[in-house]
Amino acid sequence: MLIQPKIRGFICTTAHPEGCAAHVQQQIDFVKSRPPLAHPPENVLVIGASTGYGLASRIVPAFGGRARTIGVFFEKPGTENKTGSAGWYNTVAFEAAAAREGLYARSFNGDAFSAEIKQTVIEAIARDLGKVDLVVYSLASPRRTDPADGQTYQSCLKPIGAAYTQKTLNTDKAEVYPITIEAASEEEIRHTVKVMGGEDWELWMDALASAGVLAPAARTIAYSYIGPELTFPIYTNGTIGRAKEHLEESAARLNQRFGSGSAFVSVNKALVTQASSAIPVVPLYISLLYKEMKRHGLHEGCIEQIERLFASHLATGNPPLLDAKGRIRIDDWEMRPEIQAAVQTAWDEVNSGNLREISDFEGYQTEFLKLFGFGLPGVDYAAETEPVRPCSAGA
Ligand code: NAI
Repeated sequence: MLIQPKIRGFICTTAHPEGCAAHVQQQIDFVKSRPPLAHPPENVLVIGASTGYGLASRIVPAFGGRARTIGVFFEKPGTENKTGSAGWYNTVAFEAAAAREGLYARSFNGDAFSAEIKQTVIEAIARDLGKVDLVVYSLASPRRTDPADGQTYQSCLKPIGAAYTQKTLNTDKAEVYPITIEAASEEEIRHTVKVMGGEDWELWMDALASAGVLAPAARTIAYSYIGPELTFPIYTNGTIGRAKEHLEESAARLNQRFGSGSAFVSVNKALVTQASSAIPVVPLYISLLYKEMKRHGLHEGCIEQIERLFASHLATGNPPLLDAKGRIRIDDWEMRPEIQAAVQTAWDEVNSGNLREISDFEGYQTEFLKLFGFGLPGVDYAAETEPVRPCSAGA
C-alpha cells in the first residue's frame, strides 16, 4: 500500500509504519544521547503508552535506564486495505527496538477504563515482572465508560460560567479567526471530570495494590497543564481544568493511601499531540510559543520534556522538586516571564496574513505530520509499504 497523509480537520486518518518507526527512533536516539538515568525505575507500567507524553514516558525509562515496560493504549492495528493508527505503529517500533536491546516490553490494546484490562495487565505484571515500581498515567480520551454504573461519559473542552471569544487557528487552512465557545452546562463539567479527572487513576492504583503487584516504594505520576492567562478560560478555568483539579485531588488521596511521596502530578509544557490539536485556541498559542522558545534555545518536544522529568525529578534518588501546591513543574521554561511576554505581544498581532512570519506555524505543521509518521528523513514515502504489522498487543 502507498500511504499518504489524509487530514480531516485536526486529525490525520492515516499513519505510516516506517515513518512512525523513524519518529520513535529519533526519540530513542535523543534519550541515548543523554547521560543514563542515575536511579531509574525497574518495572514501569504506562497507561496511555502509544503516543505523546505516554510514549515518551515509556521510551525514557526503557532506553535511559533499561527498565522493563508494560504499555496500555487504545489503538487500531492495520488491515490489508486500511492503515493502523500511529500509536499502533509506534508500539510496533518501540517493541522491535526494545527486543534488539534485550529489553522486556509487553503491550495491551484495549479500554484502560475497563475492569477487564486492569485484570489482564495485573496478571501480566504478576507473571512477568512480579511488581511495578512506577505507574505513569497519561490517558487523553474523549469518553469513558464507568465500570461501576456502565454509563458512558463524554468530555468536552468548554469554558465555565460565561462564553469565551478568542482567536483560534484552523490548522488545515492556516486561517486565524475569532471563535466563540459557549459555557459548559453542569452536566458537561461533571462528565469531563469523570473522563479526564483522577477517578480511573485511583481505580488503577487500588487494583494494582490489592493484587499485590505494587513494589513497596512504588510511585505514580499523571500529567497536567496550566499555561498562560490567555488560554485560562478554555483550559485551566474550563472543563478540562476542572478535571485536572480532580486529578490533583486524586494525587492527594493516593498519597494518603499509599504514603506521602508516592503520587505526583507533573505540569507539562503545551506540545503538539493528537490530544492538544483538538483544543480550540491552543494550537495558535503553541505556534507562537514554539517560535519564541526556539528563538531562546529552550524548545522541547515530548521526549525532551519527559527526559528532563526523569533526569531532574523522578530518577535522581531524591524526592522530586515540587511547587507550593505539591506539583512537579516541567512547564517552567514555557512559563518564563520573557517567553510569556513575547507570546502575548505576538498574540495581539497575529492574523492569517502574518501567521507564517510571526509564529512557528511551519514547525506546528511539521510536528503534526510527524505524529502520524509523515515528513521523517530517510523514509521513502513513494514506496509500497505493508500496513499489517504485529506487536505483542496483537496483529
Ligand atoms: P495523546 O493523545 O498523544 O495520548 C493519549 C494516549 O491515551 C494514547 O496512548 C491513547 O492510545 C491512550 N488512550 C486514549 N483513550 C484510551 C482508552 N480508553 N484506553 C486506553 N488508552 C487510551 O495525548 P497527550 O497529549 O500525550 O496527553 C497525555 C496526558 O498529558 C493527558 O493527561 C494530557 O492532558 C496531558 N498533557 C498534555 C499536554 C499537551 O500539550 N499535549 C500538556 C500537558 C499535559
